[in-house]
Amino acid sequence: MKVFLTGASGLLGRAIYQRFTKETDWTVCGIAHNRVGSGLTKLNLLDKSSVTDFLNATQPDVIVHCAAERYPDRVERDPQAAYDLNVDATAHLAHEANRLNVPLLYISTDYVFDGKSSPYKETDKPTPINEYGRLKLLGEKEVLEANPRNIVFRIPVIYGPVETLEESAVTVLFKGLKKCQQEKETFQVSNYELRNPSSVNDIAQIVFKLVEKKLFSSPDLNGIFHWCGNEVLTKYDMVVKMANTFGLSLERVVPVVGQPGAQRPYNTCLDVSRISQLGIGTHTDFADGIKSALANWISV
Ligand SMILES: NC(=O)c1ccc[n+]([C@@H]2O[C@H](COP(=O)([O-])OP(=O)(O)OC[C@H]3O[C@@H](n4cnc5c(N)ncnc54)[C@H](OP(=O)(O)O)[C@@H]3O)[C@@H](O)[C@H]2O)c1
Repeated sequence: MKVFLTGASGLLGRAIYQRFTKETDWTVCGIAHNRVGSGLTKLNLLDKSSVTDFLNATQPDVIVHCAAERYPDRVERDPQAAYDLNVDATAHLAHEANRLNVPLLYISTDYVFDGKSSPYKETDKPTPINEYGRLKLLGEKEVLEANPRNIVFRIPVIYGPVETLEESAVTVLFKGLKKCQQEKETFQVSNYELRNPSSVNDIAQIVFKLVEKKLFSSPDLNGIFHWCGNEVLTKYDMVVKMANTFGLSLERVVPVVGQPGAQRPYNTCLDVSRISQLGIGTHTDFADGIKSALANWISV
């Protein structure tokens, strides 16, 4: 079987790439835009005819679409560029999936909700409060309107092995924590918004299982699915767990309310019962997951 994976050089895409390549009966056609590492193919999703040519040449059995502009502040700064990737390129992929008669699994976000009435079920009406959430929701609509048999998988803030600490909204906190150990300045961190972080390996495992089920046993598996970790944490809580895990001081860490930049929803906890009922949910304890994700960054 063959999966066409977009965003294979990204934080989540790398984990999904690794999960599929563990299986001898799967071939992964992973694409990247700028970070074309080993095994990946360079392909710009904005170049629609190249995307069509690549799909004709590779003939995948399923498309997993991870690539996106996912930094809310960057989306606010250049909404047109984010629209082109998050909505327009997604619509083209959904159209191509139909043409090839293969399912598409689209990675979406808890930011499609306003954070005022969690936990959110798949049937709850999305009401995004920032442009990133609005564009991801438009991407969802393209995917499901093209074919209601496609899958939309909404996930929370993720963390995992990073190429830079800034690559994840979770691991970037470690940068601030380490800095305030060495320099006599405070590290202000939000103790307001509630999140349920997930390890990229957990999400990759669920994606793999969803695809397997869709292709081999349950072709009627369609529509929206939610998953998030089962620990409710503010950013400050995450920093406390990191400090405890790595024996760092919290002396100059200051919990605050609010943060600069694009507006963020308050509590985006997702109801995960649909995935749980399939028996494919998985949660890595945050302290264990962050210890392994940051293993290479302790002495840097
Ligand atoms: N990160 C989170 O906390 C989070 C939370 C909820 C949902 N999500 C969703 O999860 C998915 C993956 O997020 P992520 O954090 O892994 O993103 P990421 O690390 O920022 O990776 C983005 C990926 O998109 C690729 N890309 C960007 N522009 C492209 C283009 N024009 N053509 C082809 N590929 C292009 C990038 O390729 P290059 O790097 O090679 O240029 C990279 O592989 C996204 O759909 C996001 O909305 C993420």
